[in-house]
Amino acid sequence: MNDESLTTKGKEMKRAIVVGATSGIGKGMARLLTENHFKVGITGRRIELLNELKSEKNNSYLIKSFDITDTLNVARHLEELTSELGGLDLLLLSSGTGDENENLDFKTEKRIIDINVIGFTIIADWVFNYFQKQKYGHLVAISSIAGLRGSRQASAYNATKAYQINYLEGLRQKATKLKTQIYVTDVRPGFVDTEMAKADKKFWVATVDKASLQIYSSIKQKKKIVYITRRWRLMAILLKVLPRHVYDRV
Ligand SMILES: NC(=O)c1ccc[n+]([C@@H]2O[C@H](COP(=O)([O-])OP(=O)(O)OC[C@H]3O[C@@H](n4cnc5c(N)ncnc54)[C@H](OP(=O)(O)O)[C@@H]3O)[C@@H](O)[C@H]2O)c1
Repeated sequence: MNDESLTTKGKEMKRAIVVGATSGIGKGMARLLTENHFKVGITGRRIELLNELKSEKNNSYLIKSFDITDTLNVARHLEELTSELGGLDLLLLSSGTGDENENLDFKTEKRIIDINVIGFTIIADWVFNYFQKQKYGHLVAISSIAGLRGSRQASAYNATKAYQINYLEGLRQKATKLKTQIYVTDVRPGFVDTEMAKADKKFWVATVDKASLQIYSSIKQKKKIVYITRRWRLMAILLKVLPRHVYDRV
């Protein structure tokens, strides 16, 4: 699957960063981007997994290992990686975490908030400001269908995903007002077969490959919001219309 239509400026090889490329959706997307003539900066904490991915296609990847909650150093890491890539056209933000936490153990909630809210925000802000300066660019972030309603089993996870959905909407509104070619795509998966998908009762589970292909297609079309797989849009509609008194008893 080769594609030239992603080119926003000129015909040269495009440059992307995938934040959270050590496993799951981020890894699948990093592979797919390299197959489509992107040079890709890959990040995550587990350096050995980044090295493993790079060894598959040495010339296509650059590595920067960091923790997105290390707020004092995130900007420096992204600047260095961008400069090694020679610029940036696309940033895909896939780093995230989630756990069921019925006992409301605060340590667990805080870890989820630190990664999905603080880490998410520092990356999104850095890249939006970068794109604003160069007047173009595409931010793609993986939120979740879980962000549409609350959850008694995973209160922090669903709440942080709602934050991400709203934050991305704010950035999209800002991009529109600025009248620049900045695009923001909010990817909302249902279930994808990754380390994170731990729920007992899973359905409509997509493989990473299938999810990645659908995400890539939505990037090419510069979609604003996309459900992965597409049939999860039906669940989104149901979740939105379900009356509160019914939802509270689910
Ligand atoms: N799988 C699903 O069913 C599903 C459904 C809806 C939404 N999502 C969302 O999709 C995104 C990707 O998840 P996945 O399913 O691909 O799970 P995954 O395989 O567990 O991948 C999570 C990625 O996040 C990175 N990460 C976690 N904490 C980090 C930190 N502190 N600093 C930097 N990177 C960190 C991990 O890298 P390191 O551990 O190496 O740092 C890893 O690359 C998440 O935001 C998740 O909420 C997934």
